[in-house]
Amino acid sequence: MSSPSENLKRVIVTGGAGYIGSHVVFSLQETRRYKVISIDNHHNSHPKSLDRVAQLAREALPKDATEQEKDSAEIDSHTCDLTKPDEIRRVFEKYGKGGIWGVVHVAAYKAVGESTEFPLLYYANNVGATISLLQVMSEFDCHRMVYSSSATVYGTPPTIPIPETTRVKADSPYGKTKIMSETILEDLCTEPRWRALSLRYFNPAGAHPSGRIGEDPRGRPGNLLPLLAHMAVGRVKDDKLRVFGNDYPTPDGTCVRDYLHVMDLAKGHLLALNALSDDSKVFDNCPTPARFKAYNLGKGKGMSVLQIVEAMRKATGFDYKYEIIGRRRGDVPDLTADPALAEAELGFHAEADLETMCKDLWNWQTKNPNGYDTEVPPAPSQR
Ligand code: WQD
Repeated sequence: MSSPSENLKRVIVTGGAGYIGSHVVFSLQETRRYKVISIDNHHNSHPKSLDRVAQLAREALPKDATEQEKDSAEIDSHTCDLTKPDEIRRVFEKYGKGGIWGVVHVAAYKAVGESTEFPLLYYANNVGATISLLQVMSEFDCHRMVYSSSATVYGTPPTIPIPETTRVKADSPYGKTKIMSETILEDLCTEPRWRALSLRYFNPAGAHPSGRIGEDPRGRPGNLLPLLAHMAVGRVKDDKLRVFGNDYPTPDGTCVRDYLHVMDLAKGHLLALNALSDDSKVFDNCPTPARFKAYNLGKGKGMSVLQIVEAMRKATGFDYKYEIIGRRRGDVPDLTADPALAEAELGFHAEADLETMCKDLWNWQTKNPNGYDTEVPPAPSQR
């Protein structure tokens, strides 16, 4: 009698406990077609996030759920340092050769400014770990990867909006680690067994509408939206937001970014994973012999820092004050996606608007003022 898991496609999500990873895990579980295995070192994530995701999946199961469906709601979670091949090997050994269908590789350090201060840390963790992971995947006959890349690979792009054909030329070690990893994948995928899709994230924002999972960065948030949420909930006591420059060539002088809802981003990972199936057509018109493609995941709508502040003022009712200070190292004027390729080939649509992103972010933050360290009362159905 096969175990329920054997009829599910086992997929490893690295960084599964993190902000993006936990929403990706949720999206995979929603299909009840995947058995999710999370690998995370909890450098910037909280183990409780996966308990919440599994709880959401259990609550969504039908009363007459099969054993297989029930099993799809349970997450195998492993704490593991991805820069150590032996630790990765120990996870793969649990499922045997051919036991893992594919890997969604989200785990990475991602602070642009920090990467300029600690480049070696970023190269070791973001590139070294990717190499170790690919080596072990190959040993265990696992040749499919969805890779988490970033719009920062474009550096300061020559045109806005940015199509995937834009030359990649990162300005920061962080962006260079994403380019290097994409290059490694493209070379690997010239081997017929391999296939990989790289997802170039623009700016993820918001949280699952239930408010049960969300962004919970360790320490003071570096990114704009979580910082604004922490200010409004009183977790950051700054009396003013420091705006890093208003002398950029943009409508109001502050930087423009393409914000997309984290749930839309997570759905993009599911679509990419499905596109790695053997019968997928996504590689049919590949420009190179390698079964490797990169897709922008964005809305194609740029919003400035001041527009984001205004949107969060409306969502939270908090009276933000700000002061303009000098530019932040590594910032570029505008990163707005041309999302046409992902829409055409993956069926990807970043539907949620900015108001929804801010509403869902604020819902998460008010329900979890201290992030995952806040006890959330069980849903009414569980009382
Ligand atoms: C947005 C804008 C800041 C804070 C992030 C990640 C990066 C990538 C994309 C994954 C910028 C301004 C911010 C503040 C400010 N993620 N700002 N005051 O820089 O686009 O990159 O998302 O690949 O890894 O770091 O996002 O939110 O940090 O900044 O004025 O206190 O807000 O200058 O223009 P960014 P961000």
